[in-house]
Parts: sequence; structure tokens; C-alpha cells
Amino acid sequence: KKPIIVAIDGPAASGKSTTAKILAGRLGYTYIDTGAMFRSVTLRVIREGLLEALREDESRIAGVLQSITIGFRGDRVILDGEDVSEAIRENQVSREVSFISSLKPVRDKLKELQQEMGRKRGIVMDGRDIGTVIFPDAELKIFLVADPAERAKRRHAELSLKAGGAAVPSLEELEAEIVKRDKDDEERTHAPLRRHPDAVVVDTSKLTIDEQVGFVHDLVMKLVGQ
Ligand code: C5P
Repeated sequence: KKPIIVAIDGPAASGKSTTAKILAGRLGYTYIDTGAMFRSVTLRVIREGLLEALREDESRIAGVLQSITIGFRGDRVILDGEDVSEAIRENQVSREVSFISSLKPVRDKLKELQQEMGRKRGIVMDGRDIGTVIFPDAELKIFLVADPAERAKRRHAELSLKAGGAAVPSLEELEAEIVKRDKDDEERTHAPLRRHPDAVVVDTSKLTIDEQVGFVHDLVMKLVGQ
């Protein structure tokens, strides 16, 4: 059986990473979370204190992109040799990642890395532009959507679980953040969030995780044979 590329795109908190991770496990494929890569670049920019300078002069990103290394060890995210899996989920990173992702040099650099990671196929990659820009030749393209209120609820449950009793943002705050990030991602000039015409739309609002993974898994099986 020839390994294929499964490209999963969609707005924030629509179930992409959950679906992609489980699906990759079932297929024996490698899961690649491209959002984690953009978050890693954002974290490094914040740590270098470069954020404000970048808003004035985008060319200041060049030094970061020249020396940065981003990779995965299992499902851990490694930035310049350090495990940043938790750090890249912090609030400030979530707030600034859409700005950093809108920069052309950042997209070009990560595009190169992502295409190299998929060279041998046998991957499930999730993001915003995987089916449209990174692998327009992916055998299966999925576009996941869900109601904003439902997405806020899921994000809230996920954060509450991790916070272990500590305060988490309200449902209203989370929904506002999600809607704002989608708008920024849809309206940017370079590689905006958009559904490829061939992508299969899956609305996960009323599906269980098992159902959404099963649906995509069936599509893969039709393509590669049982
Ligand atoms: O997937 P996640 O929500 O972690 O992605 C964080 C942000 O990274 C997105 O809101 C988007 O701005 C950016 N991103 C992107 N292209 C991708 C994946 C993520 O621009 N392929």
C-alpha cells in the first residue's frame, strides 16, 4: 500500500489536532502539527524581545529564521533543542501567533521544512494552508469546521483540565479570541485560511471524537484499499 498525505485544515479549535493525532496513530503515519511550528517561531520572537521591533520592521525576522531549529520528538515540540510543548500554548503566544504567521519570510521558511517532512508521504499534517499551499497534491484533503460556541466550550474544557483548579478565561473570552484569530487568519495576504475546492468539509459540532476520526479513516481506507 502506497502511503499518502492527509491534509487537515480548518479554523482554530475545530478538532484538527485531536483528529489528526488519533488518525495518524491508527494508520501508523507521522502526525505533524504545523500550528506548533508557527507557535515556536512566535515563542522565540517573544523571548528575544523582538515583537515590538517586528511590528515596525518585518525584515528583523531574518536573524531568527536563519538560526532557528524546529522539530518533533514523538508528540513533543522541540525548539532549538528545548522541549517547548507547554510554553507554546501560553496566552501571549496564542495572541501573537497570527501576526507572526502573516509574515512572508516565516511562511516561506516553514513551507520548506513542512514539505521536507512530507517527502516520504505517510503523514497526517494539520494547519491552515496544508491542502492549499503546502501539499496541494495531497491525496486526501479535509476541512474541519465547528460552531464557535462549541469550539469555545472544547477549548474551555481542555484548559480547565490542564489548569487543575487555577483560573481559566471565560467561555465568552475564549469565543472572542477564537473568532478574532480566524478572522486574522482568513484575511491575511499570504496563505490565508481557505478551503481547497477538493477538500471534504466535516462539521464536528455534533460529532464525537470517535465519529470524526472514523469518518476520515474511512475516506483514507477507500483511497489506499483495506
Ligand atoms: O493550530 P493552532 O491553532 O495551534 O495554530 C496557531 C496559529 O498558527 C493559527 O491561528 C495561525 O495563525 C497559524 N498557522 C498558520 N498556518 C498553519 C498552521 C497554523 O498560519 N499551517
